[in-house]
Amino acid sequence: MNNPWEDIKLDDYENHMSLDSVKQLQTMNAIMKEQFEDYPVDTAMIFGIAGGNGLEHVSTEKYSKVYGVDINKDYLNAVSERYKNLFGVLECLQIDLINEKEIIPKSQLVIANLVIEYIGYQAFRDAILRVKPEYVSCVIQINKDDHNWVSDSPYLHAFDRLDEVHFQMEEQGLKKTMEEIGYQVLTVESYDLPNGKALLRIDFKKKMKYEEVYLSEFSDVFYVEEKNVARYIYGIDEVG
Ligand SMILES: C[S@@+](CC[C@H](N)C(=O)[O-])C[C@H]1O[C@@H](n2cnc3c(N)ncnc32)[C@H](O)[C@@H]1O
Repeated sequence: MNNPWEDIKLDDYENHMSLDSVKQLQTMNAIMKEQFEDYPVDTAMIFGIAGGNGLEHVSTEKYSKVYGVDINKDYLNAVSERYKNLFGVLECLQIDLINEKEIIPKSQLVIANLVIEYIGYQAFRDAILRVKPEYVSCVIQINKDDHNWVSDSPYLHAFDRLDEVHFQMEEQGLKKTMEEIGYQVLTVESYDLPNGKALLRIDFKKKMKYEEVYLSEFSDVFYVEEKNVARYIYGIDEVG
């Protein structure tokens, strides 16, 4: 059995997401703009890029490489066609994040919006361990009603099979997963949507290891704040 996302037409997904009653395409676009701008990185990877909503905010002065990862080849073809201006920077990769994570390249930032719901915490965690990003910025959907997690719309039947791969997300579950692999929470922000749903953006940063804290004492670049965080986490008092 193939993954249900491989059978969902991009038009159906985007038309559903941009309905007034759903309003997620517009909200996600604004969030993506901030995600691209917020961190001092020059490589980014988007898990579950769909049609590339938000890619117009990629600055080619800031980014040398932006990877778009998705399981659906047609989505990736549409992204390449839509963002020809990002030629040389944007690289689209057809990867199943559950079963093929060993082929994912490294990147300093991972953006994972509304995709952990479809791969689960365990596969997400394993993919992050492969990519080894410094920063991870995620958006998950919080539903007050567990049974109707897809909003009502004329396109609803396009999503009938998503039940097979859907995991209900929770703030604490995601934080715990990331903390177990050495990431600390940086920020949490909530965006209310129609229909009793909300989007939660949670950003993480990789914790520094003892040796990195120690070495950074001798570095020209002196990250006081990061060292204080590492001291707090690892209880290191003897450094500096
Ligand atoms: C709900 S859409 C989110 C799209 C976009 N990030 C956004 O915020 O609008 C989920 C995306 O994840 C992709 N996806 C789902 N399961 C996947 C998997 N196992 N591996 C790679 N991509 C997957 C889907 O094809 C789809 O493009």
